[in-house]
Amino acid sequence: MQTKIGIIGGSGLYDLAGLENAEWQVVDTPWGAPSDAIRVGDLGGVPMAFLPRHGRGHVHSPSTVPYRANIDALKRLGCTDIISVSACGSFREEMAPGDFVIISDFIDRTFARDKSFFGTGCVAHVSVAHPVCPRLGDVAEAAAIQAGVTVHRGGTYLAMEGPQFSSMAESKLYRDVWGCDVIGMTNMPEAKLAREAELCYASVAMITDYDSWHPDHGTVDIADIIATLGANSDAAKAMIAAVPALLGPDRAPCPHGCDRALEHAIMTAPDA
Ligand code: ADE
Repeated sequence: MQTKIGIIGGSGLYDLAGLENAEWQVVDTPWGAPSDAIRVGDLGGVPMAFLPRHGRGHVHSPSTVPYRANIDALKRLGCTDIISVSACGSFREEMAPGDFVIISDFIDRTFARDKSFFGTGCVAHVSVAHPVCPRLGDVAEAAAIQAGVTVHRGGTYLAMEGPQFSSMAESKLYRDVWGCDVIGMTNMPEAKLAREAELCYASVAMITDYDSWHPDHGTVDIADIIATLGANSDAAKAMIAAVPALLGPDRAPCPHGCDRALEHAIMTAPDA
């Protein structure tokens, strides 16, 4: 099977330079329009599809991002793998602003979003016990190393609804009691929907701040986040550019079964 790599770019990432034969493609889905047109093209002989999660001009807040349409549009374009790149706060001293973290698990605290493709007419329960693809995570980690970034392998991502940042009490709860490593507003339900769509999904957290728990860093400030993102967007682009050669043009079935997630998940009888 031919690899096609979907990239979902978060805050600060609105385009993907360096694609050959690049064009913006408008994709419609039964779930509505995705966040924006999708930049398609080739990188190192591998087809790529880049979607700015918040839209060019940053018009979607974390709660209004059309997550189902985004994942469905990338699936319709033939993507086999999705790498999500997002700005995140850190709960760990050693995960410093500018570092990247390859996410290994999530706690989903979002509540105002459509979280499934299933539920009306067809009921399915996929497993998200292991919500990211380790093979794709290996590739993302190797790509970040090639890009010269300090990268941490593994971390639990607290997905909050936003758009406000956490209170101090919430920040300490997530860090000290729940053992989370990073916090963001967008990877859920994206990761769950990618699993329902049988796509391999990996998430790269670009650390922009220490959230509000850190005694020496004060409260989270969007101006500081944007400044850190600006300083790191070249590293993110270099990481993405390294992915095609590492993943390769031909894709063997996922050894972790991401591409067969629905095999035993659908409850509704075919003739129901
Ligand atoms: N995105 C970047 N930093 C964040 C933080 N501290 N909390 C939630 N989302 C973020």
